[in-house]
Amino acid sequence: MSPVKLAIIGLGLMGSRHIEIVNSFDGCDLVGVCDLDSDLGSLADRHGVPFFQKIGEMLDSTRPDGAILATQSAAHVETFEACARRGVHALIEKPVADTTQAALRIAELADLTNTRVLVGHHRRHNPLVKAAHDVVTSGQIGNLLAVSMMWTLMKPDRYFDIAWRTVRPDGGPVLINLVHELDILRYTCGEIDQVFAQGRSKARGFEVEDSVSISITFRSGAVATIVGSDAVTAPWSYEATTGENPLYFNVPENCYYFTGTEGALAFPQMELWSYPDRDRHGWQHPMEKSVLPVSRADSLTVQLAHFCDVVRGARPPLVDALDGARSLAAALAVLESISTNKPITPSIDPA
Ligand SMILES: NC(=O)c1ccc[n+]([C@@H]2O[C@H](COP(=O)([O-])OP(=O)(O)OC[C@H]3O[C@@H](n4cnc5c(N)ncnc54)[C@H](O)[C@@H]3O)[C@@H](O)[C@H]2O)c1
Repeated sequence: MSPVKLAIIGLGLMGSRHIEIVNSFDGCDLVGVCDLDSDLGSLADRHGVPFFQKIGEMLDSTRPDGAILATQSAAHVETFEACARRGVHALIEKPVADTTQAALRIAELADLTNTRVLVGHHRRHNPLVKAAHDVVTSGQIGNLLAVSMMWTLMKPDRYFDIAWRTVRPDGGPVLINLVHELDILRYTCGEIDQVFAQGRSKARGFEVEDSVSISITFRSGAVATIVGSDAVTAPWSYEATTGENPLYFNVPENCYYFTGTEGALAFPQMELWSYPDRDRHGWQHPMEKSVLPVSRADSLTVQLAHFCDVVRGARPPLVDALDGARSLAAALAVLESISTNKPITPSIDPA
């Protein structure tokens, strides 16, 4: 099988991680990288890859089969259009876009040009998340009734040197980070019926929130809460507890709790709680804990292998543009709820 030819557009925080991963993966060849910022040419040099400042020039001269789009979300539709017009399949970083209209435009362009889109909700490729999905959807903890998620950590001050991260339309932890939690909730618990959220920027005073609480109901009848803050000293986040990204200090704690009529799952330590004797249940009886064995894998590498298969046409994308649009719609509903102080039903239907 010949390697898939890939390009990367956008070499910031995420694009520079993609370079490392693509360059060390056998199933693909990195043929070119592109960023508006000429200073990033040195990063390309270090990896021995041709550097371009114009997307069209890079695509026309290197002719990749697929491209990874790691520009800020507001630029995804424009960068995807450049790829789609040339029949280049795309792995688009999450969120798929900054508005549902832009996300739907991406889905439409993909259809019109016959290009395939995988949205970079990479956590779905993590075996731990897949195992949590399987526990919940197989009924192993009975009927899922309530979920609690924590995403609490401290972003370093220098993270905010990049202006778009501090302002609308695409800055702030709801769109950048909690869209992951919302996507995992959709994946494990089904479609969201309604969100009601509060958000504050008490710590930093930016236009975008630093702390939020989100209350969620699902079409299934289950409920969930997410408490999130990027300005606190706390170990309970997906990043810190899964150890997925070596950049983060790793702690053996849990950050998500799935609870059902027959048991509960604490993630990512994968602790399953239940009553040993089903006929003896109730708060007076002892519960037992077992730990699910789950093999670890780097989700960005698993995602890249999947993207290569998607480019080859060997399998459909795990998260396509419309799926990504639904997770984006959930995040936008959270922001709308914060600004209107009302419950909102996420929707991708044009108003
Ligand atoms: N999967 C994850 O866990 C994860 C983590 C962080 C960021 N992201 C996502 O990745 C994307 C990028 O985020 P980031 O923090 O790396 O941003 P960043 O600001 O660090 O990098 C974006 C880069 O894109 C470049 N760029 C912008 N428009 C361009 C264009 N038209 N042509 C070429 N280059 C262009 C910028 O110059 C910049 O270097 C966002 O969608 C973000 O939500 C995903």
